[in-house]
Amino acid sequence: MRSCLIAGNWKMNGSLQSAIELIEGIRQGDRGQAQLAVCPPAVYLMKIGGMLSDSDIALGAQNVCDQEAGAYTGEVSAGMLRECGCRYVIVGHSERRSLYGESDQLVAARFAMAIAAGLTPILCVGETLQEREQEITEKVVARQLDAVLESSAIGDFAKAVIAYEPVWAIGTGKVATPEQAQAVHAFIRGKLAEADDGIAQQLQILYGGSMNPSNAAELLAQTDIDGGLIGGASLKAQDFLAIAQSI
Ligand code: 13P
Repeated sequence: MRSCLIAGNWKMNGSLQSAIELIEGIRQGDRGQAQLAVCPPAVYLMKIGGMLSDSDIALGAQNVCDQEAGAYTGEVSAGMLRECGCRYVIVGHSERRSLYGESDQLVAARFAMAIAAGLTPILCVGETLQEREQEITEKVVARQLDAVLESSAIGDFAKAVIAYEPVWAIGTGKVATPEQAQAVHAFIRGKLAEADDGIAQQLQILYGGSMNPSNAAELLAQTDIDGGLIGGASLKAQDFLAIAQSI
């Protein structure tokens, strides 16, 4: 039986003060049975990590460098994220892919670096609206997964999480229907099952894209949806907790 993970991707929002208030709100609230993770902006990780040191809410980062150390201005290493108390790190978010030109290969290298450092990568995959309309969703998702499978072993997926985030659903208020999401989640699990069925059955596959307290229950009820990667709704403690409670 797979457990359910609700992870908040705070993206580049808020201030130190609002981040502290948000984490206090999440800590104080009722979250039901869900496993929770928060991914604050990198500069707040140390502070938020300290606030979570006695909590079972996990800390995650929003990206990680594909190199261990050295002259990589602006990047943050996996070791540094570990020092901040991170357990998770998002890799290959569509905003990184589309706005900052991260290729499938770079995402795969970031994934490998996270695994090597003992972090759990949350690997994001998903198609654009145009790609969905062209009916190539599975092809795109397969390509994104294949890049990682080429440079990492299938065994590494036992230490990873996947997030299916249709690009057209991110920050648009346009959520995938439970059937649309379930179909892609089942495709992802099936694809990994071709390499190792045991690992595929254990793997947590999260849905991300305009998930909120009113649509979460239906999405999370789908067989292959094992949680959510929440953007906008993770910035309000009440909404984030309401999503967790809807499992
Ligand atoms: P929204 O929940 O704001 O659509 O963002 C989803 C997302 O990108 C999470 O990584």
